[in-house]
Amino acid sequence: MRKIDIFDTTLRDGEQSAGINLNTAEKLEIARQLERFGASVIEAGFPASSPGDFEAVKRIAETIKRSTVTGLARAMKSDIDTSWEALRGAEQPHLHIFLATSPIHMEYKLKKTPDQVVDIAVEAVKYAKRFFPLVQWSAEDAFRSDPAFLVRIINEVIQAGATTINIPDTVGYASPQEYGALFKFLKENVTGMERVKLSTHCHNDLGMAVANSLAAIENGADQVEGTINGIGERAGNAALEEIAVALHIRKDFYGVETGINLQEIKRTSQLVSQLTGVVIQPNKAVVGKNAFAHESGIHQDGMLKNRETYEIITPELIGETTAPLALGKHSGRHAFKDRAISMGFELTDEQLNEAFGEFKNLADKKKEITEDDLFVLFTGKQIEYSNVPTYELTNVQVQYGTSNVPTATVSATIPTGENVVVATTGAGSVEAIFNTLEQLVNGQVHILDYRVTSIGKGRDALGEAVVNLSFNGEVLTGRDVAQDVLEASAKAYLNAINRKLIKSAVKVKEPVS
Ligand code: KIV
Ligand code: ZN
Repeated sequence: MRKIDIFDTTLRDGEQSAGINLNTAEKLEIARQLERFGASVIEAGFPASSPGDFEAVKRIAETIKRSTVTGLARAMKSDIDTSWEALRGAEQPHLHIFLATSPIHMEYKLKKTPDQVVDIAVEAVKYAKRFFPLVQWSAEDAFRSDPAFLVRIINEVIQAGATTINIPDTVGYASPQEYGALFKFLKENVTGMERVKLSTHCHNDLGMAVANSLAAIENGADQVEGTINGIGERAGNAALEEIAVALHIRKDFYGVETGINLQEIKRTSQLVSQLTGVVIQPNKAVVGKNAFAHESGIHQDGMLKNRETYEIITPELIGETTAPLALGKHSGRHAFKDRAISMGFELTDEQLNEAFGEFKNLADKKKEITEDDLFVLFTGKQIEYSNVPTYELTNVQVQYGTSNVPTATVSATIPTGENVVVATTGAGSVEAIFNTLEQLVNGQVHILDYRVTSIGKGRDALGEAVVNLSFNGEVLTGRDVAQDVLEASAKAYLNAINRKLIKSAVKVKEPVS
């Protein structure tokens, strides 16, 4: 079967979404999971865009061995030099250069003529090939470019040494028929296309990113780019888990395979959602909470008679376990460790002890511990921040009554090591907590977004809070989980502030085995 490479850009195009700010350790944890997921290429960031991106790309390039690691660069020497410094430690150094080719981008953004754009592209690819064995060249806004000009510039960059050609629908304007036709046209008209990989990269502005990507595959694309959960700027990118499952379920039609480990989909999706704070819509295909829920009586009846009446994808296919969790408050460390291993977490003894302590506390409060709860406990345990002093919540208490002014009292350890108690009021419980924390952190805080969701089902489900705020002008997102949503909210707020403190000073603990 024809093999389609999966190029994951969750950590580059996905991370460009409003409000996402992952630190190096979190990016590395996602990259490790993408490697398990089976991504052929992981785009780890844009090294020349910031020191944080540079450091993350370098760490990921040095760590990940089973997927090719790449970084994005503009078509300029300084970006290519910086990218080489970040990527030279990779198993198979790969660079991704982009340059716009549509009339509107060339005239207004680049202020260059088409001839100049061809020269810049060729020079950049030639220069990159001095260092990188693998160079992908992207025609930014390719879909709105003149197809004849695309043929001309692609001919030239292939001659210059590009090994992959990417045809992005940067603004999500294409329809599947048109986008597929463009791939067919390029396949038929570019000289040497059979020597390079042809790649698709779609945005979801009109909700057609996945359909367009599949149309490109039908018309000869060898590689498909996208992000987990479809995160990305504006309406996002093509959702890779949807593409992987569509190609698997409909292999009778598409006749291709991806090498993706479908069993890792659920976990990859949850990890990306938890670390980015981007909640998955309940009805999202493949990974939404309701993707396998059958509500109507007729459907349930059909399912009981034969699951295939209404189920084309099983939850098991994507690694969602429906089996009850045989763990409770009397379970021992050994069973707990086995569970962590079977869920794919490689934890050190110290990390395991910490998670076990949290599990026992939770089991005291919660009737039934679910796999989702355990996932939350284990996620992030591999991340250890260096000894950057941060804010740690010790206690939060709220006095609330329908006819009283809500008052919050917070005690916390502050970065100097002191324990401080602050109290103030607000129009509601959450506002009272946030006002109190603003006094504690001593800066200007504006709340931009705030969400609480439940992890799993039932009245004793864990609550997850995500707070998007600006702190002294810098936009940060924090998240945390607790059984009480007010506690989760206070911790999420402090998590956002702490991110600023630890931004570049992170270290990642390696698992023992
Ligand atoms: O959408 C786009 O055009 C991109 C390029 C940088 C490949 O993300
Ligand atoms: Zn893009």
